[in-house]
This record gives sequence, C-alpha cells and structure tokens, in this order.
Amino acid sequence: MKLKDIIIERIKKNGPIPFDEFMNMALYYPEAGYYTKSDLKIGRQGDFFTASHLGKVFGLILSKQIKLMWGKMGCPDEFAITEIGPGMGYLAEDIMEELLYNENDKHSFKYYLIEINPHLENTQRERLKKYQGKIFWYDSIDKLEEFQGVLICNEIFDAFPVRVFEIRNNKVFEVYVRLNTEEFTEELKPARQDTVEYINEFAPWILEIDGYRSEINLAMKEFIKTIYKMMKRGFVLIFDYGWSNEEYYSYERKKGSLLCYYKHSVNENPYLNTGEQDITAHVNFTALKKWAEEAGFNVDLYLSQSKFLISLCDEPLLEQLQKEDLIQKFKRLVLPSGMGESHRVMILSKL
Ligand SMILES: C[S@@+](CC[C@H](N)C(=O)[O-])C[C@H]1O[C@@H](n2cnc3c(N)ncnc32)[C@H](O)[C@@H]1O
Repeated sequence: MKLKDIIIERIKKNGPIPFDEFMNMALYYPEAGYYTKSDLKIGRQGDFFTASHLGKVFGLILSKQIKLMWGKMGCPDEFAITEIGPGMGYLAEDIMEELLYNENDKHSFKYYLIEINPHLENTQRERLKKYQGKIFWYDSIDKLEEFQGVLICNEIFDAFPVRVFEIRNNKVFEVYVRLNTEEFTEELKPARQDTVEYINEFAPWILEIDGYRSEINLAMKEFIKTIYKMMKRGFVLIFDYGWSNEEYYSYERKKGSLLCYYKHSVNENPYLNTGEQDITAHVNFTALKKWAEEAGFNVDLYLSQSKFLISLCDEPLLEQLQKEDLIQKFKRLVLPSGMGESHRVMILSKL
C-alpha cells in the first residue's frame, strides 16, 4: 500500500490527525516514510545538501574541535564520537580519516552511528568498512550504552515532527489533517494544553496577531533529555538552521518556517509527494537552550556557523584548505549567501 493511502486509512479510522502525527508518518513510517524508505538519497542525487556534502572541509574543522574537547576532558582513553542521523556517512568518514587513520595523529577513539534506516546503514557500512572494529551502529539513541565523548547532531532537529499552530481571536489553535474526498486538507482545533503553555512561555506577543501561524518542536525537549541520560561525560555539538526566539516568532515570519524539499526544489505544501519529499521546520534555539539547561547540560556556546568555523581556522588549517583546493567549499560553509548565517551552532557540556 502507498504511504498516502496508509495515512488516508488512519484518518478514515481515527478522524483528523494533528499535523505532527501526519509529519511523523510522512517522514518516519516504517519502510515508507521519507527517511525510512529503502531508496533515500541525500546529496546531489537526492533532494537536499548538508554541510557534510561539501568535500571534507566540515569534517576537517570538526575534527579540530573534537580534539580540543577531548583535551578539555583530560584526554581520556575511553572516548567516543557519536553521530545522530549520519546520512550518507560522509562526515563520519572525514572525521575518522582525520582522527583514527591519519598516521600523524592516530587515536583509539570509537565512532558510534545512530541510524534509524537499515538501508542507509548498509550504505554507511559499505562506505566505512575500513574502520571495522572501531565503528558501531545503533538504530535508536535509547540503545546507546552510557558513553563519554562528543555527540554530533548535524541538521537533525529540523527533521523532527512539529506541531503547527494558528492564532484566531487571541486563542491558540492547532492544524489537524483531514480528508477532502481522497486528498489531504486542514482544519483547526483548539490547541493541546502543552502547545498553549509553550506559546505563553516563548511567544505570548503573537496572541495579538490574528492569523499568525508557525511551528513548535516539542519532540526536541524529550530528545535532549535522552541525550543527557545516555551521556556519562562530554559535549554535544549541534548544527542546524534556526533562530533565537524573537527572530523565530517575529511579525515578519507570521507564516512560519515549514518547507519541503523535493529534487532540489523547495515548496510550502507538505501534502504533496507524500513520503517522497523532505518536510522541515527551523529550530528555535532559545527553546533548545532552555530545555538543555533543564535537562542538566551547561550551554557553552551559541553562534552563527560562520563565526564558529572561522574561529577554528588557524594558519595551518587555512594552508591545508588551500593546498587541497577546498577554499571554495569553505566559503559556502561560512558566507551569508551559503550556510554561514542561516545555520547556527550550539555546544552543550556535561563535565
Ligand atoms: C536532514 S537529515 C541530515 C542527515 C545528515 N546528518 C547530514 O548532514 O547529511 C536528518 C536526519 O535525521 C535523522 N533523524 C531524525 N530523527 C531521528 C531520531 N530520533 N534518531 C536518529 N536519527 C534521527 C533522519 O533519519 C535523517 O537521517
């Protein structure tokens, strides 16, 4: 059965479903969701690019940051790098090449990959086979044994299912997905209690703006708690596109940030190409910071990707980028016309 028909069946049986449930099915329904299907491809042959697809620049610079963090932790023997949702495995490959394989700088670090898609795991296994014995897969963060080291989330939170809300007459409503014959359409229902609490806490000013529509990502809160529980000691490195609270819920953004990617083109209709297009929303870094602190983390840094990457570039690294013809790719990571300002970095620690 096609994913669209599976969702239609669900709605026929249960009635209209909240948008986050629709998005969860569209992206993660076993074997049929966008991120769980067998032919998922990220990069040139897929629907979108991420920083890890720009040659080895990103991996090279992150390796430097990881070594600094290892040093701050007192250079422990037991040290693992964990990557959530490693995509095609390029970033893992570049970091391992640098830290585990480089003859001049070889470490006994381990690398854990948390991959929910078994087909993508096979692609990663093929790409990374020379690191056998140092590299381990888990299909969920809950399965990770307590670990010590650095955990990387590159463009993970923007792919979490979000709730979509709309303000009508100073009240908060949520978007539910229902059917109009055999097509998806929307209806508004009074918001769930925790959605209302979120708006009161993070964006009470929008209650005055009739028709204001945006998203909230409550799944991030639980996830950050889980990471804290799994981590014995270490750092979390988060890269994603997003804004702080006031930027996110500003008047100018009264239509929200939900976007869909299909074959490198962008649209705003999540009800098209069900299971074949990515659906994303920007990350609210203010909420992320608050929830990370509530979980027990210390928030060490919040910067634009541009400032963060440039701060790690010393002369030898720049020379290496030049020698390996990587300067153009570096520019795409740091220039405002590339990912420099749209993407932000947050570092959490538990030491
Ligand atoms: C936009 S892709 C980014 C992929 C990769 N990090 C990169 O930079 O190319 C988002 C990834 O997050 C993964 N993801 C989303 N929720 C997850 C979860 N709860 N646990 C593990 N991975 C998750 C998806 O499966 C997907 O591979």
